[in-house]
Amino acid sequence: MRSKITVVAPSSTANLGPGFDVFGLAVNAFYDEITLTKTKEKKVSIVTADEIPTNPDKNTAGLVVKNMIKKFRTKDGIEIKIKKNVPAGYGMGSSAASAAAAAVGFDKLYGLKLDDNSLVEFAGIGEKASAGSIHYDNVAASVLGGFVIVKTNPLNIIKIDPPTNLRMCIAVPKLKVPKKKTKVSRGVIPKKISLKDSIVNLSNATAIVAGFMNKDAKLIGTSIQDVIVEPARQHMIPGFKKVKENALKAGALGVTISGAGPSVIAFSERSADLKKISLAMTRGFKSSKTRCETIICKPSVGAKIKK
Ligand code: HSE
Repeated sequence: MRSKITVVAPSSTANLGPGFDVFGLAVNAFYDEITLTKTKEKKVSIVTADEIPTNPDKNTAGLVVKNMIKKFRTKDGIEIKIKKNVPAGYGMGSSAASAAAAAVGFDKLYGLKLDDNSLVEFAGIGEKASAGSIHYDNVAASVLGGFVIVKTNPLNIIKIDPPTNLRMCIAVPKLKVPKKKTKVSRGVIPKKISLKDSIVNLSNATAIVAGFMNKDAKLIGTSIQDVIVEPARQHMIPGFKKVKENALKAGALGVTISGAGPSVIAFSERSADLKKISLAMTRGFKSSKTRCETIICKPSVGAKIKK
């Protein structure tokens, strides 16, 4: 039996426009790295050089490990070493990446051989700490990689391999994000929606699924249209309208908020001028006096054991 394991897990983008809390896509922009080491002293401790909570009850990876220890009645303590690369609070699935790496690592460390749905369910416990409620879109993408659909009651994650020519440009604005940002940005979403709007979103969401199944990047990109959540959240992102408009003009197929924001994601094909799209997004943010970092990326594989 191993005494130590290191896992890397990718960043992810949730919702993809109309698939609020249902769609997730792992992206190769950033990876968190987590090392779990068994210790004699029976406690969970966090070691990190990054600015994240070191109290295991407030740390997404810590919560996952504590819950798994309780569930499987393992006898050791665990030291969790975290190297955070996914920027926290920007809609890139940061908490999910650490939670996913922790669940996959614990499973392997104790040879539990959990199935995908159970791994995602454990990883989801970490999300509750940061978002206030459980949503599995980011963790499912981080655990499994590729494009995922979260089917609930019972939880059943459906994974589809993305087309190889799908590309994304992500603009991460240098903004101060509120504490508990996801909770705040979930609070602005309407509780009731019209039948008309739900039809528009349903039609685009189903077209996105068809796009992934048929490996049709164009269909995916042009269906990234959301008339419910994006309009309610966009005021939280200075310059959003301009960023979107610029990216579309520069050739992006579809543009929306990445997860709960404030990052903005443009979907495209490999053949597009991705640099031009990124620059157009940067200019869009600049019009609201906001600097941003842009990343050109593609879909990623899921969490992987490193050593
Ligand atoms: N689906 C979630 C939301 C993702 O949009 O609130 C949070 O990263």
